[in-house]
Amino acid sequence: MCGIVGVLGDHEAAPLLVEALKRLEYRGYDSAGIATVNNGTLERRRAVGKLASLSDLLVHQPLTGKAGIGHTRWATHGAPNVENAHPHRAGPVAVVHNGIIENFRELREELAAAGLHFQTDTDTETIAMLVQHYLDQGLSHRDAAGKAIARLEGAFALALLFDGQDDLMIVARKGSPLALGHGEGEVFVGSDAIALAPMTNRITYLEEGDWAYLTRGSIEIRNQAGELVNRPVKTVKIDMSQVEKGGHRHFMAKEIAEQPTVLGDALAHYLRGDGIELPAPGLDFADFDRVVMVACGTANYACVVAKYWFEQIAGLTVEVDIASEFRYREPPIPPRTLALFVSQSGETADTLAALRYCEGKASRIASVINVTESSIARESDLVLPIRAGAEIGVASTKAFTCQLTVLFLLALKAAADRSRLEEGELEEHLEAMRRLPGLMNFALAQSTEVAAVAKAVSEARDVLFLGRGSMFPLALEGALKLKEISYIHAEGYASGELKHGPIALVDKTVPVIVMAPTDGLFDKTVSNMQEVMARGGKVLLITDPEGARAAGEGCWKTLIMPEVPGALAPILYALPAQLLAYHAAVAKGTDVDQPRNLAKSVTVE
Ligand code: F6R
Repeated sequence: MCGIVGVLGDHEAAPLLVEALKRLEYRGYDSAGIATVNNGTLERRRAVGKLASLSDLLVHQPLTGKAGIGHTRWATHGAPNVENAHPHRAGPVAVVHNGIIENFRELREELAAAGLHFQTDTDTETIAMLVQHYLDQGLSHRDAAGKAIARLEGAFALALLFDGQDDLMIVARKGSPLALGHGEGEVFVGSDAIALAPMTNRITYLEEGDWAYLTRGSIEIRNQAGELVNRPVKTVKIDMSQVEKGGHRHFMAKEIAEQPTVLGDALAHYLRGDGIELPAPGLDFADFDRVVMVACGTANYACVVAKYWFEQIAGLTVEVDIASEFRYREPPIPPRTLALFVSQSGETADTLAALRYCEGKASRIASVINVTESSIARESDLVLPIRAGAEIGVASTKAFTCQLTVLFLLALKAAADRSRLEEGELEEHLEAMRRLPGLMNFALAQSTEVAAVAKAVSEARDVLFLGRGSMFPLALEGALKLKEISYIHAEGYASGELKHGPIALVDKTVPVIVMAPTDGLFDKTVSNMQEVMARGGKVLLITDPEGARAAGEGCWKTLIMPEVPGALAPILYALPAQLLAYHAAVAKGTDVDQPRNLAKSVTVE
């Protein structure tokens, strides 16, 4: 989603702003802009498309000044054009904004009645207008901004810059994250600490409802009630290698390749001696009769895989829902329910709203999160980090397998707490988990073979993915990965559902990707696969050596994964699914890391 940066520095702001915006590119955007104040004069430049267009514009029409704000915009209200790009300006006020102002229509009507003229239809311009309106009434910058911010409803992070003020920026956060960076006589602002990494690693995260009055020499933070508050300065460790491609052509390729390492880190975080240790205050699954898991997109598919694990290994009922449905459905939450939210970014608006719905209803709220400073993490009773490191590619890869890893450990913990494990069973599962990074290396070594198949898949118009049991959600994830980065239409189905409709789609032009390790359901999946082949379907079978021997004949292609204990197959088989999507996208020449229309962290509903 949109990215915000700000600088009150002692160097030229424009290059710093563009550099910082580059580090927010991963969030997805379709236009960009910056504004600076130079000797009291506020000016802005905006361009549609990638940051290179803004940089080109700045070559011809440079902006000077040591104070500035910048923005990458992912269009919500209004088309991605220059008029709608940020910063927006009203009189002496420029604003950059991430999120949505829900009451902007009422505010516009009020301001229009007061004689103010709008240039755009955007909610963001309304913020600048409102501040201008209060300045016109004679209020100070602090009071005008404070009064305007208090009237904004919705979820937002924003930064204001003022004509005539070389040493002032006012920022606010409600529902969207905002980080302040401390320099020597300089202050920085960013949607996340990654944006500020080369400038500072001393960061203050604003809390929900906070707003701050910034000058080079002082940072004054107030909470929603207008009281002055102290927020801690944290020294954050940002490993710059995480935000660079490290010799890979794309972040997605790097993140796929990192999986054995990050999965190993995640395991090391949770495994102590022969057991599983959760961070404080921990969880005892004997306290729950039911788990509700809520998430969006890929994170939701991780929950669906986990449902199989929790029910089969721990005998615990799990309901999985997509957050955008759950939040409005008003589902009853009976006593002794654990509400579990899974999110890479921890900022997904629907997932956060679903969490808030469960507050006061569920007996505990836990989250499985990558960004531990995020809103969802802050509002959870227990945070379970997945430790995947920064995920920059818009399509989630390593976060998915790390989410699965943590969820599998939770399912084992649930089984142990509920006395569902035989003697030695926990150790056996953990031993299998420890072998997983090694098996992933074998899977990654097949990248060239996958690329050859992906080349053919990239020419298809439609692709089907099939799986049974816990491989069914993986079929959904494989299809999502392919469509989001290669723009090929793909659908995932439970193998057994095929003949209830989708088989009508099968002909020799539709690759059907069957993910079938030799588990207890293998024969059933193979029968469904044969139904496809009998109708001329082109099957790509992803299986293990035994599966290939038993069922590989007649398939269009076979990809062989190492043998893996059945329960863990969804984690391992995620890799060929990711590689297939990646290589198909490369073959088609699409923008792998920033696919069209998509944003990394979806902070609007
Ligand atoms: C797909 C993808 C998305 C996210 C979804 C939830 O590759 O990345 O479907 O999984 O937007 O995002 P988080 O996990 O940040 O809540």
